[in-house]
Amino acid sequence: MEKFIIHGGEPLAGEVTIGGAKNHALKLFAASVLFEDPITIQNVPLIEDIFRMKELLEGLGAKITKTGQNDFCIDSSGIFRTDLDREITKRFRASVVLVGPLLARFGRVSLPHPGGCVFGERPIDLFIAGFEQMGAQFKEKDDCYVFEADNLRGADFTFRIPSVTVTETLMLAAVLTEGKVTLRNAACEPEIEALAHYLNSAGAKIRGAGTQTIVIEGLGKHARLKSNKPSQIIPDRIEAGSFLILGSLLATDLRIKKCRPEHLASLIVHLEAAGVNVEVGSDWMGVCRPETFTSLDLKTREYPGFPTDLQAPFSVFLTQTKGKSQVFETVFDGRLEYMIDLKRMGAEITICDPHRAIILGPTPLHGREMESPDLRAGLAFVIAALVAKGRSTIHNVYQIDRGYERIEEKLKQINANIKRVD
Ligand code: EPZ
Repeated sequence: MEKFIIHGGEPLAGEVTIGGAKNHALKLFAASVLFEDPITIQNVPLIEDIFRMKELLEGLGAKITKTGQNDFCIDSSGIFRTDLDREITKRFRASVVLVGPLLARFGRVSLPHPGGCVFGERPIDLFIAGFEQMGAQFKEKDDCYVFEADNLRGADFTFRIPSVTVTETLMLAAVLTEGKVTLRNAACEPEIEALAHYLNSAGAKIRGAGTQTIVIEGLGKHARLKSNKPSQIIPDRIEAGSFLILGSLLATDLRIKKCRPEHLASLIVHLEAAGVNVEVGSDWMGVCRPETFTSLDLKTREYPGFPTDLQAPFSVFLTQTKGKSQVFETVFDGRLEYMIDLKRMGAEITICDPHRAIILGPTPLHGREMESPDLRAGLAFVIAALVAKGRSTIHNVYQIDRGYERIEEKLKQINANIKRVD
């Protein structure tokens, strides 16, 4: 198993270029099921979850070729089966997004309980409620979930809570229904808007993606989308935000290029409230560590609120701010476990309940052995190790490679002392 060896305390400086968004690219791979012809996707991050999605689609009969350094051509017209591979599906959550397009096109799809990050139990009740309202039948059979629908129909579905992948998979299914589907209290992430924008350029009729109400005029079960241009994956706002937090802690002068600062408005205002000066350009950000930074409370929210995927990296930042901070993780249960490892590094943290913690700072951190529990906590450990004095070892690097392309190469380019060893 690969691991990272990190020696912390080095000041960082230079430029880092952000890759394509994992949570946009994965959904566009799934959306290829709706197309009659091959689609070309550019700026795809070369990360483990993309490789799993490629294997999953190829296992169903799709033909996928790499046409450039970060470009893929996906032909899903030849798909002949709709039972998702058990082992692969359990390794990443985005596999669930395939349910909608497969169900709409083939009338049946089966999958095991989807995998991915282990915080909370990751329920699928919203998938079931949404597809049942669109006329599908759901059952559990041989430890698998099965959805069946001869013809999906129009619906007016209100989310009990906004869900990103359920919004996406219902939106994809709705493209081939007979009738109109309205999704209310839907997730508003920019990756959803980008996904809908490409589908509309290929003949779909989706309005309101990126807002809380999305209306899809279905084209009918036998319709197919037709791509007439490649799709460009938007920059990964979570990768960009991770480097912005790292730069706030350790940089003498860090420039983050090929990003979309407008997708990180909440993080930027939190950093500025803590005393960090963030320079913002059209597609770049500049940051350096201030003399001191003051503590502040953090509450994660659905987009455009503070992203839950940056809660762990930001909590590392809070351990270095002066004063008392409260972290309130409102989106997921059990997404504070990683703080136990930060405490072992010297952080002063009280975990009050599965959603809330108190952090007192600043405290010096010292390096130690750690295991990445999931991709975002894994990156938070990398940040903590770079801040800490001494040597850290981070195991289970696969989890980090799920969401970050060649992260150690990018970090070395800005003077970080990190190496990957087998
Ligand atoms: C997506 O996960 C992202 N993953 C997550 O990023 C991200 O943390 C999350 O959205 C929130 O922004 C992908 O896009 C592949 P949710 P998703 O459904 O869709 C509850 C990463 O690091 N819920 O928006 O699975 C759920 O338990 C990953 O890239 C139900 O109750 O998250 C959570 O409390 C980690 N029933 C809340 O909704 C359901 O049927 C929001 O989760 C589905 C979800």
